[in-house]
Amino acid sequence: MAHITGLDMHSILADTLFFPPERSTFAGDVDGLFNFIYYLCLFFFVLIIAAMTYFAIKYCARPGHSEKPSPSHNESLEITWSVIPSILVGVIFFYGFTGYLNMREAPEDAYEIQVYAKKWQWSFKYPNGAETTELHLPAGKPVKFLEQSADVLHSFYIPAFRIKMDCVPGRYTSTWAIPNATTGSGISIDGHQPYHLFCAEYCGQQHSQMRALVYVHEPAEFEAWAEKEANFLETKPPAEAGAILFQRKGCVQCHSVTGDRSTKYLGPPLNGQWGTERDVIPRGSSTPEKVMMDENYVRESIRQPMAKIVQGRKPGMTVFTPSLLNDKQITAIIAYLKSLKDEK
Ligand code: CUA
Repeated sequence: MAHITGLDMHSILADTLFFPPERSTFAGDVDGLFNFIYYLCLFFFVLIIAAMTYFAIKYCARPGHSEKPSPSHNESLEITWSVIPSILVGVIFFYGFTGYLNMREAPEDAYEIQVYAKKWQWSFKYPNGAETTELHLPAGKPVKFLEQSADVLHSFYIPAFRIKMDCVPGRYTSTWAIPNATTGSGISIDGHQPYHLFCAEYCGQQHSQMRALVYVHEPAEFEAWAEKEANFLETKPPAEAGAILFQRKGCVQCHSVTGDRSTKYLGPPLNGQWGTERDVIPRGSSTPEKVMMDENYVRESIRQPMAKIVQGRKPGMTVFTPSLLNDKQITAIIAYLKSLKDEK
């Protein structure tokens, strides 16, 4: 397991002052430019305030001193204060622009991950079909992120990599990075890992909750992980696979599984419900009837959420067509719902 050793002074400064540790090949350049601009501003701020204070005291109006006429022209001074700032601005522009171009164009052979942003969850789709809500990456390889948004503007931001890209509804955006240190599979190595992924564009009520963790694996370990993840319906017990789908397909956002009956959750709670009778209002009717929560009822509620609405709840669930959730996946979700106990 490779992890970064021998942090130099520069990255210690960067870690403690402004940013988390540098964990992509871009990070050093970004921090270098940031620090250059920061210390340049600091230098001129101190210089200007000191000079201003000195002159204010030195030329303060006092009795016996008369005003001198203002000097109209000083060529060498004017050239100096035009040329030096122009050079500095040119340097900043050059490094900023080349760095920007570099981050826009991923190498041809980059591993491509589709990033879906949606109020208020991230999901990631890998080339082999695996889908996750946490981001997993191979170390030392260029990874391209192709971002999309399902609703409003979001922003894909991984501070440890120093990359940030808007996710815009109706179009693709992309960025890329080479992660340069592994995180293991969840255990913190140096107190900073796994890395954080944030939404950096205000996108509504739960914007601050729109986060994910970023795991970086050794390439061989990553391959094995991706393989297993793509086949989780086969490799995991049905109830566990169902739990993953319940998270991933967003069911968890509207259905409590802890017995919370409040209307904070739009849909009815689902734990401890299996085999019980519930009052529902069938479509086009106003008289409630009783229905047993069994396989067919759950299947119908997923495929045609409007067919029977639980009394006291409002219709509003996504219609899950077979392309959004296939029969195998529904069977796994049913196994998960069966396993949920009443927690009251
Ligand atoms: Cu998504 Cu803020």
